[in-house]
Amino acid sequence: MQVTVCRLRTHQWCFILFNVILFHALLFGADFVEEYFLHALPYVNMKVLEIKDKARKLNTEPLRSNLSKYYILSQSEVCKGKNIFLLSLIFSSPGNETRRNLIRKTWGNVTSIRGHPILTLFALGMPILVTTQQEIDRESHKNNDIIEGIFLDSAENQTLKLITMTQWAVTFCPNALFILKVEEEMFVNLPGLVDYLLNLKEHLEDIYVGRVIHQDTPNRDPNSQEFVPLSEYPEKYYPDYCSGGGFIMSQDVARMMYVVFKEVPMIVPADVFVGICAKSTGLIPIHSSRFSGKRHIRYNRCCYKFIFTSSETTDAEMLLAWKEINDGKECTLFETYSGLISCKLLTYLDSFKRFHIGTVKNNALYFGD
Ligand SMILES: *[C@@H]1O[C@H](CO)[C@@H](O)[C@H](O)[C@H]1NC(C)=O
Ligand SMILES: *[C@@H]1O[C@H](CO)[C@@H](O)[C@H](O)[C@H]1NC(C)=O
Ligand SMILES: *[C@@H]1O[C@H](CO)[C@@H](O)[C@H](O)[C@H]1NC(C)=O
Ligand SMILES: *[C@@H]1O[C@H](CO)[C@@H](O)[C@H](O)[C@H]1NC(C)=O
Repeated sequence: MQVTVCRLRTHQWCFILFNVILFHALLFGADFVEEYFLHALPYVNMKVLEIKDKARKLNTEPLRSNLSKYYILSQSEVCKGKNIFLLSLIFSSPGNETRRNLIRKTWGNVTSIRGHPILTLFALGMPILVTTQQEIDRESHKNNDIIEGIFLDSAENQTLKLITMTQWAVTFCPNALFILKVEEEMFVNLPGLVDYLLNLKEHLEDIYVGRVIHQDTPNRDPNSQEFVPLSEYPEKYYPDYCSGGGFIMSQDVARMMYVVFKEVPMIVPADVFVGICAKSTGLIPIHSSRFSGKRHIRYNRCCYKFIFTSSETTDAEMLLAWKEINDGKECTLFETYSGLISCKLLTYLDSFKRFHIGTVKNNALYFGD
């Protein structure tokens, strides 16, 4: 019937409609499919039940009494007696006080959203230089928001960093309902994120949510720094995991991870490590396309009010986004819609450009003399 109408009336209309639908399908289709149809079911077996039981009964006392073995700066009292809704752990590099100060001034300066307490802390490893350590001590004394683990903060030690900080969270902040792990380069729309978590309120457990990466493969190039030998991880693909720039887990998930840490090879990248732990505890990561993963989302006020994170945020953009998100101006449905279209399109164009430049460079490498 539709077809005859089309043929009888101006089929230009049908053509336009078709294009509009195609346009939206291309722009949002992948997100939609991922979000609603690619869910595997969580599974439960004897081993998973055992892990859950161990996680519930976890004894953190030995850790508390040997604190100085693991942490230089431990902030062991900041959570005490508080019911934290969301604990943000910002993974920061030791020398980057400027960035930390910027975050303290912008999205990290939030202590409560709609009455739900938020706590923001910086997670660091040790710097190479003694002078940097002195600066960190000073900064920590002033702000009381730095956790520093006893390990060198290098690219290779990021998995160790994640373990140390998860251990911190389950030991010193067991009342935090959710834990956000985020890199310092990210912009985070905390109010949006809190609203999303509040909507999950029937189940506060088994939450591991972020931008899910499917079928990633281990790096098998022995000359690469990220080389993962077959002996350490023999499988062809990694399990689904949340991209490490920013993701959220509930407290029980952090505790379960803590229980299974030692069975997982530490050589895999930190975010993959979490994915492997999650898999062995029977968890399936939840995907939300509002997390950016490693992509920078082009700035647009109403788009930034909708998304949760954006990667590679410059200092200027951080200030602007923070100011405009909090100026009290709401976005209408249409503004949000056009904002999303605009920032999605521009972000796709950016990644296309980057891909293209990458290819040209590679070709030059292979074919140039
Ligand atoms: C931590 O301290 C406890 C005493 O409370 C001790 O029995 C235990 O061996 C120590 N554990 C570690 C890992 O150092
Ligand atoms: C953080 O926010 C409070 C109000 O909640 C404000 O008084 C304070 O100046 C802010 N801090 C910074 C560093 O901007
Ligand atoms: C990781 O940290 C440990 C403990 O500080 C250190 O001995 C090791 O050299 C670090 N590894 C790398 C590759 O930096
Ligand atoms: C500090 O962090 C920003 C954002 O991630 C990054 O662009 C900058 O290079 C870092 N600076 C240092 C000294 O690590």
